[in-house]
Amino acid sequence: ADAKGESGPLAGKHILVTAGPTHEPIDPVRVIANRSSGKQGFAIARAAAAAGARVTLIAGPVSLPTPPGVGRIDVETAVQMRDAVMGALPADAAIMVAAVADWRVEVADSKLKKGKGPPALEWHANPDILAELGEHPDRPGLLVGFAAETNDVVTNAKGKLERKKADWIVANDVSGNVMGGDNNRIHLVSADGVDDWEDLPKSAVAQRLIEKIAESIA
Ligand code: CTP
Ligand code: CA
Repeated sequence: ADAKGESGPLAGKHILVTAGPTHEPIDPVRVIANRSSGKQGFAIARAAAAAGARVTLIAGPVSLPTPPGVGRIDVETAVQMRDAVMGALPADAAIMVAAVADWRVEVADSKLKKGKGPPALEWHANPDILAELGEHPDRPGLLVGFAAETNDVVTNAKGKLERKKADWIVANDVSGNVMGGDNNRIHLVSADGVDDWEDLPKSAVAQRLIEKIAESIA
């Protein structure tokens, strides 16, 4: 279904992409969610497949069609996403675009009832999937994180680059109102420095990132 088939710049490469939010259940009918649309991650998976890569897209709950030529695994929670990512290794590159919930709560077996009053939720930290990949014996050759930041965009991204042992952080300035929108303002942060991109549609961000990845892992 994809134009370049097995002859593009990423032919023979396995690319792992996470996308969308995670949902963390509270009880059988309720979840804790976030506003990630999955659009940027899906655009990256599409561009990678069009460049000839074998693509594994691990997606949280989103309402988006699977891009042509992409192998998709649907998950709900951060723990499920972590297990799916680790199960999909090895990969030549991993691009972690998902907005993974930082915490989950102890799940009630039955529906919490209003009459009992506001529940006291017991919180637990979720696994940091990107950081686990950074230290994994099968660490992908190129490890790319995303960071949506409202302030100190580049400083925060540099901190994440080091803490998570990533190669690149694609820092996304969300000080405007871009969650769910069609454009992104990117600062690509790596050990080599910072590359500031102009405001671009998510499809163009995906295209440019995949071109850079192809150069890097060729
Ligand atoms: N990430 C991950 N697993 C998590 C949290 C984040 O894999 N449990 C990944 C994201 O997919 C992204 C990168 O780490 O590629 C940065 O996510 P972000 O939420 O910005 O970083 P945090 O370390 O969670 O910091 P904070 O939310 O406090 O800014
Ligand atoms: Ca976070």
